[in-house]
Amino acid sequence: MFRFLTAGESHGPALSAIIEGIPAGLPISRAAIDEQLRRRQGGYGRGGRMKIERDAADPLSGLRHGHTLGSPITLRIENKDWANWRERMSADPVAEPPETVTRVRPGHADLTGALKYGHADVREVIERASSRETAARVAVGAICRQFLAAFGVTLRSHVLAVGGVGYSADSRPNAAHADAAFWEHVEASELRCADETLTQAMIQRILEGKRDGDTRGGVFEVLALGVPLGLGSYSQWDRRLSGRVAQALMSIPSAKGVEIGGGFALAALPGSAVHDVVRYDPARGWHHLTNRAGGIEGGISNGEPITATVAVKPIPTLAHPLPAADVVTGENVETTRYERSDVCVVPAAGVVGEAMLAIALADAWIEKFGGDSLAEMRRNYDGYLATLAR
Ligand SMILES: Cc1cc2nc3c(=O)[nH]c(=O)nc-3n(C[C@H](O)[C@H](O)[C@H](O)COP(=O)(O)O)c2cc1C
Repeated sequence: MFRFLTAGESHGPALSAIIEGIPAGLPISRAAIDEQLRRRQGGYGRGGRMKIERDAADPLSGLRHGHTLGSPITLRIENKDWANWRERMSADPVAEPPETVTRVRPGHADLTGALKYGHADVREVIERASSRETAARVAVGAICRQFLAAFGVTLRSHVLAVGGVGYSADSRPNAAHADAAFWEHVEASELRCADETLTQAMIQRILEGKRDGDTRGGVFEVLALGVPLGLGSYSQWDRRLSGRVAQALMSIPSAKGVEIGGGFALAALPGSAVHDVVRYDPARGWHHLTNRAGGIEGGISNGEPITATVAVKPIPTLAHPLPAADVVTGENVETTRYERSDVCVVPAAGVVGEAMLAIALADAWIEKFGGDSLAEMRRNYDGYLATLAR
């Protein structure tokens, strides 16, 4: 069984994660974990915090001489900003308690968290609700993607739109069949968009947002290539891979919608224009002529690329803040505080999306192919694949 937990406050000493269920004998590159952390920190529109942090994962358990032991893996990511917050985030009582935060910002967990947990200082919500936590998830995802890579699975993401500017339905590239040059352009683009003209137009939207003290949302696509037929199940609601992938992606802070494959657009089309015709030939095996299903049928991966799109709301911290309310007094106030913030996080959210998709797939993979060592899992995998041929 695969499971993981993350812990840590945004301005506490560190974030950490414990991962269980990754088999023994999997080679792990620390540089590859740090590379994913670096990708999450990038993207045009990020704020000052990302200039302070240079995330790196320090393994505390579960790894030896560059491979997994099969025991729980613990990763620790230091918060460099902690140095500036020692007093305010001290685990022990301090002589002079810091000023409390009582104005709740719309669109954040401030109101819901403060009332639900009974906090009189919204700081006690902000610290854990902050998306700084996604750094820990990206580290877990980096372990999962190295596990999946051992079986030939790769994860990708790119940005489709920012602030209403982006690909039209007709111009959107078929990323599942894109070549290496396309992905090089994505990785080189500050917006993680292969189209240079669109990248510039999105940057303009972000600059307009910045000028107006506002923020920008957008849409990204995330893909998993090389996933075999057979992950997930139709047998119970919570085993359906589509639901598991949607939950993983919806859990990204600021995600407001997930589509799998053709998504909402399919609802307007006749069935004959939607369903992907099945074919078999000895060289390619089972395959489909199209992939509007996004690689999942009946809650089970069908051997085609898994594709999903995620709608990301404009982040809620605005330099020109919206009206707010005081959670202690109930007083309505005209503005709330501004805390250093990003303007647009869509490219970074795409990197978190890759991590979450890797986590959902590693979970389903370990369930299907079981085994305590990578070698045992590979035998199970190879044996299963042999049963698919006709
Ligand atoms: C990578 C990443 C970075 C983010 N950075 C910020 C930020 O700097 N300021 C902000 O207000 N929201 C930021 N967000 C979004 C908030 O964390 C999120 O909107 C908030 O926690 C409320 O959760 P919800 O939008 O899921 O309801 C970021 C999200 C992600 C994925």
